[in-house]
Amino acid sequence: MQPLAPGSLRILHLSDTHLTGDGALHQGSTDTATALDAVLASAERIPDVGLVVVSGDVSEDGSPQSYAVLRERVGGWAERHGAALVTVPGNHDQRAGFRQVLANGHVLGAGGQPLMHTLEYLPPTVPVAGQSVVEGRRIVTVDTSVPGAGYGLVADEALDRLRTMLSEPSDRGTVVVLHHTPLPAPTALHAALQLRNADTLAEVVRGTDVRLVLGGHYHHHAAGTWAGVPVLVAPGVANDTDVVGAYDEESAHIDAGYLVVDLAADGSVWSTPVRVPRPDADPLAFHHDADTVTRIIDAAG
Ligand SMILES: [Fe+2]
Repeated sequence: MQPLAPGSLRILHLSDTHLTGDGALHQGSTDTATALDAVLASAERIPDVGLVVVSGDVSEDGSPQSYAVLRERVGGWAERHGAALVTVPGNHDQRAGFRQVLANGHVLGAGGQPLMHTLEYLPPTVPVAGQSVVEGRRIVTVDTSVPGAGYGLVADEALDRLRTMLSEPSDRGTVVVLHHTPLPAPTALHAALQLRNADTLAEVVRGTDVRLVLGGHYHHHAAGTWAGVPVLVAPGVANDTDVVGAYDEESAHIDAGYLVVDLAADGSVWSTPVRVPRPDADPLAFHHDADTVTRIIDAAG
């Protein structure tokens, strides 16, 4: 992996971990804790990660035990790497279990230091909301989940909160993290589960200091612009949606990946998608050691 440019923030962006409290297989086929471990092992050698983001559908069953798996494994990775950790609920999450273990989703601050939260009971009807600052960037989470539903909606109180927050620009811009990404959906099923008030949210975001939106939900990497801002969808940890199949059908492959997103000092965004190979199914095609690479570079002038 390339070294981080001075002044940039490097974000390890994961999504849709669909962890289970009892180890049950996701969709009857995927051990999601093992898939998460493979993703974290793959990311082990990435230098200079300042922030880890998990953009929703953290859990499949909403149990506190499932959130504890994330806290332990992703939180442990972030602490070892000196990175912050921010997460947000998706449609499969349940706010009660999420809050019990992950509070408002801003779990670790800059340098991987645990963030303190006041213990306050909030009913599941209240969206999870939070913000933190990592290397001068304001990281804002927007809860798009609707209790009991699969589609996304940003509640009026969350819109008001975001509008108020963005009225004051931050030092080095804002990153918005949400689950239901406001980009077109690849299949009919995902289209039915889209963010329903993306246009209203766009009015709040457009023209502000938001530099980047990070989302998930589609279980497949996509990138676009919305409200004048780059939007990145992380591939799923749990599986990968078949986006070239029939639009009105839905299937997924056992596959996992993540994004490495560099946010430069001037607000430029550069994302490197990484697919996590499975040694049984994906044999290495070739390998050059460092000396060989040096010879090739020299020969190329
Ligand atoms: Fe998901």
